[in-house]
Amino acid sequence: MTPGNSQGNPAAVIDAPEQLQTSARQPRAAIGASVVRADGVPKVTGRAKYAGEESPPGTLHGVLVTSSICSGTVTAIDAKEALRLTGVVQVLTHESVQKVAAPPVPPAAQSFNALQDTRVFYEGQPVAIVLAETLEAAEEGAAKVRVTYRSDQPAMFSSAPTVRPKDSAAKNGYAFAAIETHKGSIDGPWASADVRLDQTYFTPSRHHNPMEPSATLAEWRGDEIFLWDATQWAYGIRYALAVMFGIAPEKVHVRCPYTGGGFGAKGYVWPHQYLAVLAAKAAGRPVKISVARQGMYTGSGYQPAVINQVRLAAARSGQLSVVYHHSTNLSSMCDDYIEFATASARVSYATPVLVTETRIRRCNVGTPTAMRAPHEGPGSFAFESAIDELAIALNMDPLALRLKNYADQDPGDGRPFSSKKLREAYDEGARRFGWGKRAPQPRATREGDLLIGWGMAGAVMSTFRFASAARVAMSADGSVTIFASTQEIGTGTYTVMPQIASDVLGVPVEKIRLVLGDTALPETGGTFGSSTTLGLGSAVKDACEKLKARLFSIAPGATDLSKALAGTGVDQVSADGSWKPHGDAVFDAGGGTSGYSMHTWGAIFVEVAVDEALGLVRMRRAVAGYSAGKIVNPRTARSQMIGGIVWGYGQAVLEESAMDERYGRYLSKNLSGVMLPVNADIAGDIDVFFVDEFDPHASAIGARGIGELGATGVAAAIANGVWHATGKRLRSLPFRIADLLA
Ligand code: MOS
Repeated sequence: MTPGNSQGNPAAVIDAPEQLQTSARQPRAAIGASVVRADGVPKVTGRAKYAGEESPPGTLHGVLVTSSICSGTVTAIDAKEALRLTGVVQVLTHESVQKVAAPPVPPAAQSFNALQDTRVFYEGQPVAIVLAETLEAAEEGAAKVRVTYRSDQPAMFSSAPTVRPKDSAAKNGYAFAAIETHKGSIDGPWASADVRLDQTYFTPSRHHNPMEPSATLAEWRGDEIFLWDATQWAYGIRYALAVMFGIAPEKVHVRCPYTGGGFGAKGYVWPHQYLAVLAAKAAGRPVKISVARQGMYTGSGYQPAVINQVRLAAARSGQLSVVYHHSTNLSSMCDDYIEFATASARVSYATPVLVTETRIRRCNVGTPTAMRAPHEGPGSFAFESAIDELAIALNMDPLALRLKNYADQDPGDGRPFSSKKLREAYDEGARRFGWGKRAPQPRATREGDLLIGWGMAGAVMSTFRFASAARVAMSADGSVTIFASTQEIGTGTYTVMPQIASDVLGVPVEKIRLVLGDTALPETGGTFGSSTTLGLGSAVKDACEKLKARLFSIAPGATDLSKALAGTGVDQVSADGSWKPHGDAVFDAGGGTSGYSMHTWGAIFVEVAVDEALGLVRMRRAVAGYSAGKIVNPRTARSQMIGGIVWGYGQAVLEESAMDERYGRYLSKNLSGVMLPVNADIAGDIDVFFVDEFDPHASAIGARGIGELGATGVAAAIANGVWHATGKRLRSLPFRIADLLA
């Protein structure tokens, strides 16, 4: 790494080791240790079981027949040919399934229930279910169901009018933050500013593409529902199904120990989940719906396209006088999903005038959903690109401009930040990257056919917090078990929770195991919003402290708690713990009612190489530093951030779910037609560090969230690097080959 030139001592930072440690050298402790991932071996050897792998005797396979039109009415469904096939048992339509109540949004993703009437709002909407003894028969049957439609409604897409979304939480489950911020008036400061910037930036619709497509196995036993589901929120499905089917939540049992990635696609409840339950009821047998890869493009949400207008005004000194960000995202005909793309602008820099507005366009598409990183992910491309453009207009270094306008309190409402050590991340990141050696002008560095550019951006993510409970038990042999309903989604839960318990109990991590993934276990929030470690971890800590007190009451004066029960005749002692954010908000974002503004922060520096003959851009190296509270495990944390940075590179140069607006269809519904970064695209070094920090306000373990933070700021840093390499400003994602050609 190029040595930096900043003065003074480097910040106290935590480096994540890159070398694998053998388990023999695993550290015994506890919070802050780079313990090796516990679930790696079960996952790569197939011992970790996923929802789609389960088939109890008598299971029927369900395949959804989906609408080929995007707006209109189903006039007839002819299933005769499908029903003649060997193995096909039933074809269910809106005429043959039970009517269910309107779902609560959230946890349901859409207020509209498919397969309840003849209306069609988007291409890919389920209109029938074929049930068969084998998956193959069900698929063949689905291909033979003839559906007739009347397209009597004009379809609306990107030309739909821009409207203000329904903005009370009662009317719109997606309005979890204010849809507008108004601090001061733009007019005067805009007119009198030395430098003004007014630009529009575009981010496209993108899909989540988890490795494990969604799958639900549903079974009725009497009046109780049993599900094995691929989900990010077992209790969320319980609540949604309880309302829809009019039964007590306790009668809905959901199992999901592992989820093969979700990135938001499995956060809320989508049609295949309740349709499996409806089908199991109709058939009187267990029904499994394994969503095919194509189904993941219409049935489980996506990140909607966003148009961003950003206006910035500043004095010659670089002092900001106006921050204005207006975003418009696509949403569906039934739900006003809001992509809060203005979230970065809302908190990043000190400014006397701050105006943000979120708008939507109601289109004939399925309802969008959160996708890693929601809100700041698309929005930070626009906003942090605009800050770079302002720096250029001011003839200022982009990092110096950010430092000049550093926010020491929430710029919108003046609340203190719960904790923010972004200055340290800027300084250490710049030092490691060698930012001080950057030539200010573009096209200054060439290597053969390549133009080299350096770009940087701020990263920011709102902290999401959800109440969590856990039970911890110790057996006479000193082993400890943690019980919680959450599921392992790839973020390291099986690894970090034992570290938190070990810290309290003094028991080595090897003697601590987890039992996860069932609504029979203590309730946790969803594995979304980068919230699991802070929420569940705080509940585990609480349970361990209670367990410790109980152990001391049984064995007063014990020095080694793992031996405390030996000789007492007690086989097992357990304790229940819990944690919740301040207040009772179901969706605690950005500090909620805590009195603090709560966010994670970061700075990313990238070196890009642009080939103007071929129109290619590569990320040759990246340095990223983050202020995210206590880091429980630097290794798994680093893995999260690298994943986010690679995801951000994909956002910048590859990813897009393009739509043919004549039919309301995505052009590609298959990974073969979707461009994603592969290892060969990421040849460079990604250096990640964390500022040493403990946030006493965010959680009991001092942690905020990290997972999604890594996916913010990256696309802007790359765009800013491309400008530095070439002098071209790219304001629309993803970059096209034609954009980069000389
Ligand atoms: Mo993430 S979009 O909160 O799963």
